[in-house]
Amino acid sequence: MDKKVETALNAYCEKIEASLTRSTAEKPELQGIVLEAMEYSLLAGGKRLRPVLMLEFCRMCGGDPDKYIDIACTIEMIHTCSLIHDDLPCMDNDDFRRGRPSCHKAFPENIALLAGDALECLPFEVISDAALEGVIDPRTAVMLCSVLAKSIGTNGMIGGQVIDLQSEGKEISLDTLNTLQAYKTGALIEAACVMGVILSGNTKMIPYAAAYASALGRAFQIIDDILDVTGTFEELGKPIGSDDEQNKTTYVSLLGLDRSYIEAQKLTEEALAILDSFDDSEFLKELTKQLLSRRN
Ligand code: IPE
Ligand code: IPE
Ligand code: MG
Ligand code: MG
Ligand code: MG
Repeated sequence: MDKKVETALNAYCEKIEASLTRSTAEKPELQGIVLEAMEYSLLAGGKRLRPVLMLEFCRMCGGDPDKYIDIACTIEMIHTCSLIHDDLPCMDNDDFRRGRPSCHKAFPENIALLAGDALECLPFEVISDAALEGVIDPRTAVMLCSVLAKSIGTNGMIGGQVIDLQSEGKEISLDTLNTLQAYKTGALIEAACVMGVILSGNTKMIPYAAAYASALGRAFQIIDDILDVTGTFEELGKPIGSDDEQNKTTYVSLLGLDRSYIEAQKLTEEALAILDSFDDSEFLKELTKQLLSRRN
């Protein structure tokens, strides 16, 4: 990775890690176990792509990302919730995540379920408190909550997970797979980018951020599907071959490895072209390219 980009990415990630650490630091005696489970999954070392996107869109649109680290972490909380739930025996039934036993393997399954739930409401507390403390204005808070809630719900990540589960073992068309993906992975990535623009106050850039996210989100899921076949456990920190085992229709099962990769390349080009509409987009362009060749 380009040295300058790597330094900028590490600087973002350090601030994100520190904020995530604070978010679950206090553990009340009686129910502390659920905070331990939240912390266990939050601090297991994900790529932090979604909060980085939020902060970077805020910066590119003229805002000061350093003011909004806690708010950027809200999307990582939702994402981590989605991963905890995604791994449960009733979902993808995967025993490893981010290089360690899945939350339900390290904690009782009922606690893992509730840790996911708690990670789904904490963001709304963080955003409303930011407004009450004057970090953002109330209208901005309402806009952020609205975008975030929609991205999680039945026309967002949850909707996508439902289509994903209901499609197991069935032949689905590329159109259906695209819809599934746009909800399952695309919605949270879009929320991350759009929330960054909202934080900057430069709302006329929202459609561009959404268009970038739509292309990047699809490329990202295609690469995730490819890595499920071509990656190793050591690289990914999660089981490989899980999609095949669960009879999922993926980009690889529908298009094959080569066509999937070509599609991801095309979408990455599209995403890069949209970034031309933003000032000072070098970092994000480089990161977008890196995501195409990622190995984890
Ligand atoms: C994995 O997301 C699940 C998908 C939506 C494809 P990431 O690849 O961003 O996972 P982490 O956060 O780095 O662990
Ligand atoms: C997960 O898709 C999407 C969400 C968690 C919402 P996958 O099921 O492909 O993700 P991995 O491969 O388990 O990370
Ligand atoms: Mg899944
Ligand atoms: Mg999964
Ligand atoms: Mg996957």
